[in-house]
Amino acid sequence: MRLRGSEPVLVFATSDKGGTGRSVTSCNIAYRLHLRGHDVAYVDFDFGSPTAGALFEIGCAVRGVTEGRGMHSYLLDQVGEASRLDVTRTTDRPVLRRVPPGAGKLVLFPGDEGGAEFTRCDDAMVARVGVFLSSLLREFSVVMVDLSAGRSIALELALRATASNMLRHQPHRWLVFHRWTHQHVLAAGGLMHGSHGLIKTGSEWGHDRDALLAATRCVRTAVPSAARTRTAGRPSQATWLDEQAIALRELAIANGIGAAMVLGQTPIEPMLQWREQLILDADVNAGLANESTVEAYIQLARRLTDTSTWDLE
Ligand SMILES: Nc1ncnc2c1ncn2[C@@H]1O[C@H](COP(=O)(O)OP(=O)(O)OP(=O)(O)O)[C@@H](O)[C@H]1O
Ligand SMILES: [Mg+2]
Repeated sequence: MRLRGSEPVLVFATSDKGGTGRSVTSCNIAYRLHLRGHDVAYVDFDFGSPTAGALFEIGCAVRGVTEGRGMHSYLLDQVGEASRLDVTRTTDRPVLRRVPPGAGKLVLFPGDEGGAEFTRCDDAMVARVGVFLSSLLREFSVVMVDLSAGRSIALELALRATASNMLRHQPHRWLVFHRWTHQHVLAAGGLMHGSHGLIKTGSEWGHDRDALLAATRCVRTAVPSAARTRTAGRPSQATWLDEQAIALRELAIANGIGAAMVLGQTPIEPMLQWREQLILDADVNAGLANESTVEAYIQLARRLTDTSTWDLE
């Protein structure tokens, strides 16, 4: 499966743990892709906690939509059409409403407020996911789906739908988000390669193991700068930090998520330590956000859509 320049792509955002930075990083990547001219759909498949509306600062959907046309209701076949919110028209953030020339569409498909995690998934739901995502791929060049954390039903739905006849020929990418710590590296390696993990479960549902592996990358989020900590700290801390940095790199390699499996990483961004949101150029210009954060999102967006990143058949 080789991605041609204009072929639409499905991107699934996963993580083993909660609070990894999966949603914040994904929505910032989506935003950067929209600025680059892509028409982007952001789909909230975090069924138990559908707060993507808050990230885009859409006041009427901060915890999902209330009129029952969110992803949850849609997948249960309770409504014929899913809610959609054009981010740049519905956001409460004035700067985000000013769409620069050349930007594409950015549309949120929100969850339902009060919708809970699914406890099972059946063929009908898988088929509905297939129909829904296929229709989005006809309209958008990037469809980004934020999945509930862990080995969730959301992950199973996504794996089964992409293995089905409806989507199997569409390019798809799988991103495993994790913090750059001992526990998170173990967890992310487990989600990718472990039993009931992405690759094993995907193969059981009909994916080609090697193709799925080639379509999967990690994203390390909120990575501390060892150099900065080293300069600010005591010599004993510096030695310990250097040892830990080496140990973490070795742990990542041992768990199959070493450098070759990494799409990119984001630095610690002070704004995001206080508030989950899009980091706009205006935030950098105002001296609030670090330029390196925006650069990291731009690079992730570029690599995600760059065919040379993905060694696919
Ligand atoms: N680069 C960063 N620097 C500092 N904090 C960050 C960074 N990226 C994300 N965060 C913060 O980490 C926290 C968790 O992020 P986020 O909500 O995106 O994680 P998640 O994996 O989607 O969690 P959940 O499983 O609960 O949906 C948030 O408070 C977010 O603002
Ligand atoms: Mg989230």
